[in-house]
Amino acid sequence: MVLQELAAQLSGWKLEVVATDLSEPILTKARSGLYSDFEVNRGLSPERLKRWFVREGKSWRISPQLQQVVSFRTHNLLHGVGGLGAFDVIFCRNVLIYFDVAQKRTILADLARILAPDGALFLGSAETVLGVTDAFELAPGARGLYRPAAPRALARTA
Ligand SMILES: C[S@@+](CC[C@H](N)C(=O)[O-])C[C@H]1O[C@@H](n2cnc3c(N)ncnc32)[C@H](O)[C@@H]1O
Repeated sequence: MVLQELAAQLSGWKLEVVATDLSEPILTKARSGLYSDFEVNRGLSPERLKRWFVREGKSWRISPQLQQVVSFRTHNLLHGVGGLGAFDVIFCRNVLIYFDVAQKRTILADLARILAPDGALFLGSAETVLGVTDAFELAPGARGLYRPAAPRALARTA
């Protein structure tokens, strides 16, 4: 929604969203483009609800203009990220909570490899990279937003 609303400033950009999950039922629900009253009332503004959704029975249907830029793919984060593509922004929210520290470290290293050097990673509010990896740094003043860490200079030996 945000990028579509900024379309005038993003001429020449091709907007693509790759949405992944391990669970087929979750992907089927996501592909349906239908949301409940509860789901559209968790932070979405009334203006965006009006602009991007239409009522369909008891549900809200998302605009085809948004739906058509999203591709849904079955993917297990524990199996690496090869083949997913390269990204400017990654939302990996409320998933790392399922993994142990070693698994989180591997997943975050994988995400760092497919994220642009000036890209952004969003985690859930209960998640952090602190104590897990130095591949990302917390963006100052922006809770939940992480930037790829600058590559470290190689240590010199005399
Ligand atoms: C708590 S939900 C969070 C969904 C969404 N990101 C959000 O913040 O609302 C966690 C999701 O992670 C998915 N998941 C769990 N293990 C996974 C794995 N190994 N690879 C990919 N997705 C996984 C689950 O199927 C579930 O849909």
